[in-house]
Amino acid sequence: MRVGVLGTGTVGHALATKLAGLGHDVTMASREAGNEKAVAWVEATGGNADEGSFADAAGSAELVVNATAGTASLAALEQAGADNLSGKVLLDVATRSTSPPACRRRSRCATRTVLESRSSGRFRRRRSSRP
Ligand SMILES: NC(=O)c1ccc[n+]([C@@H]2O[C@H](COP(=O)([O-])OP(=O)(O)OC[C@H]3O[C@@H](n4cnc5c(N)ncnc54)[C@H](OP(=O)(O)O)[C@@H]3O)[C@@H](O)[C@H]2O)c1
Repeated sequence: MRVGVLGTGTVGHALATKLAGLGHDVTMASREAGNEKAVAWVEATGGNADEGSFADAAGSAELVVNATAGTASLAALEQAGADNLSGKVLLDVATRSTSPPACRRRSRCATRTVLESRSSGRFRRRRSSRP
């Protein structure tokens, strides 16, 4: 099967590698053809691996996997193009786990607070200021 994997991150890389290993023809896609990570993946994977833009991958695929950043997925799918996606199966593994609308349960809010604190450096500063 021809599969277009939209996304060059950890998730896209893992899914593309597994699918190519199973013998599918896989195109790893990013915003622009020639993405450094996608090119490296093609070189490492071999014959049934290719890379291109979101539109390239969606246009040639029978199955499209969306593994782009959740906050950018709508933009990525716009770039893939409605005509290229029409009639295709879309496997969407993207999440928006850190967005406020997803923060409905207390546990998720707590996780979000910790992640944001860590990424902004506040978490580390608070801990290191203890005696
Ligand atoms: N379902 C699950 O179990 C599960 C588990 C873990 C993660 N996830 C989700 O899987 C997705 C991929 O995660 P990841 O860590 O591998 O990758 P990521 O860093 O979240 O996303 C990387 C991809 O997003 C694209 N992107 C970023 N900004 C963009 C923009 N403004 N417009 C269009 N495309 C944009 C990048 O394009 P370029 O290649 O051009 O840079 C890249 O291909 C995320 O949504 C994540 O939340 C799901």
